[in-house]
Amino acid sequence: MFGLKSNLRVGLDIGSHAIKMVMAERGGHGKQRLVKAISRDIYTGQEKYDPDGPKKATIVPILLEMFQEAGLHPRRVHHLGSCIGGLNIAAKEILSVSLPDEEMSSAILNEARKHLPLDGSESIVDYQVLGEDHKDPDKVRVLVAATTKRMFDAHLDILREIELKPGVIDLEPLAALNSYLGHAELPDEGVIVFLNLGARRTNLLVVGRKDVFFNRDLPVGGYAFTSEIMRKLDVKFVEAEEIKKSQGLNTSIQAVGADGGAESLALSDKSALDKLGDEINRSLRYYVKETGQSIFTKFVLVGGLAESKELCEYLQQKFGVETVSYDPLAFFEGAGEVRHRMQYAAAAGLAVRAQAI
Ligand SMILES: Nc1ncnc2c1ncn2[C@@H]1O[C@H](COP(=O)(O)OP(=O)(O)OP(=O)(O)O)[C@@H](O)[C@H]1O
Ligand SMILES: [Mg+2]
Repeated sequence: MFGLKSNLRVGLDIGSHAIKMVMAERGGHGKQRLVKAISRDIYTGQEKYDPDGPKKATIVPILLEMFQEAGLHPRRVHHLGSCIGGLNIAAKEILSVSLPDEEMSSAILNEARKHLPLDGSESIVDYQVLGEDHKDPDKVRVLVAATTKRMFDAHLDILREIELKPGVIDLEPLAALNSYLGHAELPDEGVIVFLNLGARRTNLLVVGRKDVFFNRDLPVGGYAFTSEIMRKLDVKFVEAEEIKKSQGLNTSIQAVGADGGAESLALSDKSALDKLGDEINRSLRYYVKETGQSIFTKFVLVGGLAESKELCEYLQQKFGVETVSYDPLAFFEGAGEVRHRMQYAAAAGLAVRAQAI
C-alpha cells in the first residue's frame, strides 16, 4: 500500500501564467506511462498578470489544489523534477580542457562565472559535460547552467511550504528541450531552432549534433499578445486571453482595421507577432555570425503559445523553414485524452529526468 506510488515521477513547472504538472511512471517496453497531466491558470479573475512571476502566497494554494486533484499528498512524492524560469537564469556552452573529475568541477565553475550574465549577486552554478570537442580533442564541451541564489532559495521555499522534497532542479528552457531530445533525431548537418513560447518570454535554443549550443531569452511571449488586445480593444486580461485563443493573435489589429481605423496604426507600432519574428531573426543572425553555421533545418515550438497554428504558419512563412508544434506527451502511454499539450514541455521533460534517478 505505502509503496504503491513510489515509482511515480513528478515534473513540476511553475510558470508566470500557468502551473503545469506531469505525473508519470514506467510503463511497458521501457515506455513512460502518463498518470496525470494537470495545468492551472494562475490568473482567472480580476488580478493583474505579474510578469515577474506570481508570489508564493498565490502559488501555494493552487499547487495544493493540483495535488488534491491528483489524489496524491506532496509528502509522498519521492521523485520530483522542478524548474526555475524567468529572469536571472543562464545556460551556456563553454570549452574546457579535459581534467580529472576532482579538478574539473572547480575549474569549470570558476570559468563559468565569467560567462554568465546574471545580476552579480551570489549564484548557483551546475554543469554537464556534453562530450569531446570535435575540433580540439584535448578539450571538452561543457554546458553550464546557473541562477541566482535568491531565485533558487525562493523556489525551494515554495516546494518546502507544501512539503515537497526537492529533487532534480533544472532551468526551464533545458527542461523543455529535454522533452524533445529524448525522442527526436538531430540533423547530421545543421541545427534546429527550439522555441519554448511561454507567457512573459520565449526561450530560443539552437541545438545540433556538432554545433555549439546557443540559447537566448526573447522578451516576447503570450502576454505580449494579450496586452496588445487589452490595449487596443480596451478589455480586461481574462477577456483578452479568451479573444486571443478563440479569434487569433492578430485580432486586435484586424478589429482596428475593420472599423476604418487602420490608418491610425503607426508603422512604429509593430504587432507582437512582428516583434517576436524580429527578435528571432536577430538572434539567429547573431548565431550565424558567431558560429558560421547557417543551416537551420527545423523550427520546433513548445509552450502554451505554441498552441497557436497562426504562429506556426507565420514563422514557417517568415523564415522559410519547416515549423512544427511539438507534442511533448506524444511518447507517453495513456496520454490520449490530455488537451492543450504543448504547455507541458518542461513538466514532461522533468518527469522523464526525474525518472533517471
Ligand atoms: N490556444 C492558444 N492560442 C494562443 N495562445 C495560447 C493558447 N493557449 C495558451 N496560450 C498562451 O500561452 C501562454 C502560457 O503558456 P505557458 O503555460 O507555457 O506559460 P508560462 O510557462 O506560465 O509562462 P513563462 O514561462 O513565460 O513564465 C499564455 O500567454 C497563454 O495565453
Ligand atoms: Mg514557461
